[in-house]
Amino acid sequence: MVCLGNICRSPLAEGILKHKVASRGLDWEVDSAGTGSWHVGNPPDERSIAVAKKYGIDISSQRARQFRSEDLNHFDLVFAMDASNYNNIKKHATDSDQLNKLDLILNESYPGQNRTVPDPYWNDNGFEGVYELLDHACEALLDRLLSA
Ligand code: 4NP
Repeated sequence: MVCLGNICRSPLAEGILKHKVASRGLDWEVDSAGTGSWHVGNPPDERSIAVAKKYGIDISSQRARQFRSEDLNHFDLVFAMDASNYNNIKKHATDSDQLNKLDLILNESYPGQNRTVPDPYWNDNGFEGVYELLDHACEALLDRLLSA
């Protein structure tokens, strides 16, 4: 799960998907990163921590890291929150296999629409909506993968 800073959106996506994966008894590796390096080593934004906590998910021990080319090799699927993240990750792809691992996360819940998870960093009221978008997308992702 990849956003810009790895402190607002992608930590929520990581926490939500990890929670759903664990509740289904699956042993999948789920991680998140940011395309930018400004917040490397920092915990998630306190507003992301708070909204996750409201839904019973603790993301406070996550620490931001920067996306690296190796992630497109190591992981089976890589999800970007918005078109900017998508285009930055795409530059790291070395072949079509790696490119095919990449998609926008909201294409799971709104197939083919290329919708964006809005960046809530400058909007205190945006975090709840981001949580709901990511919760639906992660549910749709699991439904798709488990029915495949
Ligand atoms: P994120 O949000 O990409 O969802 O983690 C942001 C966090 C920090 C900044 C921008 C977006 N920033 O400009 O520092």
